[in-house]
Amino acid sequence: MIHAELDRLQSCLNFALDTLRKEMDSSQLPPLSQYNSVEHPLDDPTTYLPSTALFEARRLSLGESTLYSVPLDKRMDERLAAYVAVCTDTLIKTGIIDYLSDVPNPSRGVSAAELASKFELDSQKLVPILRCYAANGWARETCDSSFALNRCSRTFIKGHPGWRLGLPTPGFMTMVEAVPHWATESDWKLSRSPTQTAFQIAFKTPLHRFSWIMQNQGTVISVSDHIQVIGDMSTPSIVADYPWEQLETSVIVDCGGGMGGLVSAILDAHPSFRAVVQDTEGIVSLTEERRPRHVESGILKVEVHDFFQPQRRIGNEYSFILRHIMHNWPDKEAASVARPIFISSKILIIDIVAVPNADSTSTKSFLLDSHANDLDYSIPSHFGSASEQVSAVSVHMLTLMNGCERSLHEWKTLVKGCGLRITNVYSLRAHPSIIECALDT
Ligand SMILES: C[S@@+](CC[C@H](N)C(=O)[O-])C[C@H]1O[C@@H](n2cnc3c(N)ncnc32)[C@H](O)[C@@H]1O
Repeated sequence: MIHAELDRLQSCLNFALDTLRKEMDSSQLPPLSQYNSVEHPLDDPTTYLPSTALFEARRLSLGESTLYSVPLDKRMDERLAAYVAVCTDTLIKTGIIDYLSDVPNPSRGVSAAELASKFELDSQKLVPILRCYAANGWARETCDSSFALNRCSRTFIKGHPGWRLGLPTPGFMTMVEAVPHWATESDWKLSRSPTQTAFQIAFKTPLHRFSWIMQNQGTVISVSDHIQVIGDMSTPSIVADYPWEQLETSVIVDCGGGMGGLVSAILDAHPSFRAVVQDTEGIVSLTEERRPRHVESGILKVEVHDFFQPQRRIGNEYSFILRHIMHNWPDKEAASVARPIFISSKILIIDIVAVPNADSTSTKSFLLDSHANDLDYSIPSHFGSASEQVSAVSVHMLTLMNGCERSLHEWKTLVKGCGLRITNVYSLRAHPSIIECALDT
């Protein structure tokens, strides 16, 4: 029997796993293990930048299981996904994860009964929660009803990146539930306004999301921390994979730069630059607080600037960064962010370049291996399951403010409407890319 697709998938997976192994060896990384309770460098993209081939091999190997999954199971998984997320939330919130990380022998496992007694909880509720958490690859059930953290779940220990991502804002689920009604039946179903989305329906507010955050001061720090971790996931690659030394300007202005994590990393790697972080009034004091070293030495300035107003930093010494800004906004508003930056320097838009989920029967290898080009690998052009997060973020942007992740064609059209042109697109070892733009003369 010929199983053409299965065979191609198998050779694709074999190739990806072989490459993963080879690249790990040449990068002198320790072997991966599900039983290890110590973090592996590959577990934290905010601190470890893998080789390009390793990054691609990992993505490829995560790519495609739809070929043999059971459709009804897949649908059930989808319906129940919220429970998986809340099991993790519960274990972070109670402090059980910190406790499990701190026991004398973290890989041996602690019984649910002991945890229930320690945290004054009902073990009958705790066992299914821990088991669901473990079934999703976050922990090990070392023996019946005893649980140990594995290396992946160490990201949820207090202060670690997964913990800093925080828990969802109250109201998040109501907003998600409002999407089918909002997009298909409501008076706003054809609206492209950032103030007519499922967000306003769920949060019962006329404000757009960023104004709402500012009015709800209690959310500012947690949302900013969450945004910073998401940014940190691409920062090492942005610093390493863009030719900063070729930038002909001395000052980098990060518009809507949040807590300044990106420019700080660029300044550390390229001390000849100076930088400016611009953001709204409620954010800049946080930025100053988080970056004392750079602010005090004078190489980083932090200033209030509304990016819908004409840019005040005009001159040949400035280049501009817009990371995770344009995707928040619909086309009209996104264009008015980029349009006021009418200068001769470069504008680096750092956002996802969405790949249409078109079928691809034969894909050239994405891996940097000379033999790869001889082989006929079949993977979806959007990397199948490996791009789930990217597609979901696009729906999230839509839901929040009628924003979206844009394809290259959509980026070209948007940028052209601002009097700019794309001069290069740099792929990163992370989900976003750097879309380098200049004035369209
Ligand atoms: C998704 S965050 C991205 C933050 C940062 N660029 C990063 O990559 O980590 C969007 C940022 O835009 C800022 N922002 C929203 N509206 C703004 C406005 N009108 N003017 C300036 N900044 C704004 C927010 O405060 C927030 O820091």
